[in-house]
Amino acid sequence: MKLHFKRSFFSLLAFIFLLTTSQLVAQTYAKNGMVVSANKASSEVGVEILKKGGNAIDAAVATAFSLAVTHPAAGNIGGGGFIVFMKTDGDVTTFDFREKAPLASTPTMFLGEDGKVKDNSNHDSLLAVGVPGTVAGLYAAHQKYGKLPWKDVVQPAVDQAENGFEFIWSLYFTAQRFKKATEYPLMVSYFDDDNGEITEPGKLWKQKALANTLKHIRDKGRDGFYKGEVAQKIEDYMKANGGIITKEDLAKYDAVERKAVKGTYKGYDIYGMPPPSSGGATLIQMMNTMELVDWETIEFNSTSYVHVVAEAMRRGFADRAEYLGDPDFNPEMPVDKLISKAHAKNRFENLDMKRASVSDSVKFGHPYDGKDTTHFSVIDKDGNAVSLTYTLEHGYGVKMGSKELGFIFNNEMGDFNAVPGVTTSGYQIGTPPNLIAPEKRMLSSMTPTIVGKNGKPYLVIGSPGGRTIINTVFQTTLNVLEFNMRIDKAIEAMKIHHQWFPDVLTYEKHLMSPDTKKALEAMGHKLSARTSLGVLMGITFDTETGIITGASDSARPDGGAVGY
Ligand code: GLY
Repeated sequence: MKLHFKRSFFSLLAFIFLLTTSQLVAQTYAKNGMVVSANKASSEVGVEILKKGGNAIDAAVATAFSLAVTHPAAGNIGGGGFIVFMKTDGDVTTFDFREKAPLASTPTMFLGEDGKVKDNSNHDSLLAVGVPGTVAGLYAAHQKYGKLPWKDVVQPAVDQAENGFEFIWSLYFTAQRFKKATEYPLMVSYFDDDNGEITEPGKLWKQKALANTLKHIRDKGRDGFYKGEVAQKIEDYMKANGGIITKEDLAKYDAVERKAVKGTYKGYDIYGMPPPSSGGATLIQMMNTMELVDWETIEFNSTSYVHVVAEAMRRGFADRAEYLGDPDFNPEMPVDKLISKAHAKNRFENLDMKRASVSDSVKFGHPYDGKDTTHFSVIDKDGNAVSLTYTLEHGYGVKMGSKELGFIFNNEMGDFNAVPGVTTSGYQIGTPPNLIAPEKRMLSSMTPTIVGKNGKPYLVIGSPGGRTIINTVFQTTLNVLEFNMRIDKAIEAMKIHHQWFPDVLTYEKHLMSPDTKKALEAMGHKLSARTSLGVLMGITFDTETGIITGASDSARPDGGAVGY
């Protein structure tokens, strides 16, 4: 009895120690709610909203607006993204606020006379900007599920932009780079202080123009962005600089609530984003394949492990390229078939455990591998959970925007298949589901995911990284569900990436042993090293103890899990 008491007492002490020192350890613990995002100050904004009685949607909206201020590489009001939302009753819904092609777009708008993409214009020109969706998406989610007034959840971002927040070193480094990039006039002075010098690390960085735009959104909701003064200024800027987005595009933009795609893995429910994201369906297809693996015979990170995971990726990405696009333009997409157990079984049957497949014989890829998107995860005291990924594409999107408005536009049009009908074994895909059309949403790889157990959130996870997103979320999910890893270990464990074409297996350089590399090459895999894959922001929830555990990937040192 005494011993039992002592043990409980010391466990309690250990737990209190972990709570109070949680910033010192890789994981953060909490009882009442948590936000894990790419910027700690923004996670704090979200947690303050939770403390004020807001729910996970309120906190997510506040965090998203805050990241548009603190993490301008990917946090945004000029881009788009997705929310996966699990409610207290276990029901899951999603919001699609992916950008849309402007009304004046055409399938060949980026091609020169030689039929090739002209001057990288689908990434690096104002034509690359899709009609932004973020404000509409956050507004729609808040209108339906938020608890606190809209103004209250936008105000913290207004404050951060107007009064400033502590300028961090990573922004300081970026600012030095942009200072010389005269081709991007907005960016040259973007990080400046009132004296026209780059803000010093540790000093307050103020963004008055952005604060002003955010005030319009705060006061008028979605109309503050899609109509009136801001919309007029967006149109003026586009007209003056060769863009095609008009007030009509903005007024017509809508965010859509869509049914989540659902799969299972050994008793867990996996909820993901349906098309126009390829993330949910491809993740579920690959998890279904993993369910067929005899894990008793395969050690984590062994050659066989990497091989079987890479082969599942190869097949998942081939199907992605062949079938997926905007559901409003592709009503016949076989998503249910792709996420079925039977399809995984078919795909698994021709997987040789001793030899790499050849992508040409598996079938079709897609060029871009945009690195800057951002993900955050939220959970509240009632067990509502939000998994939100949104993006500008690449770092700082198109790196252009109006100085008066103070925000950067996305370059998401680059996610469409730019050259109709031309698919190569290098990077290019020209399949029909993802060709450009007015008001169409470009296919995405963003994979905001919630895993549920008995109707409660178990894991909330997501990452930036272009097409690598699907694979890093996939492996982190597998690490937690199959290998019972703690969330921080699951996030930090070695990741690989295969996207069918190019037929290359990418791995994290310092995390794969020379022996494994040799063995994989002998099996026919073509290897390519990378410093790191994924920037995962995850939360796990223990329904028995009610303890929430969060971890932010060390690949993003400014990130932070904040709980209370
Ligand atoms: N911009 C990344 C994606 O949508 O996949």
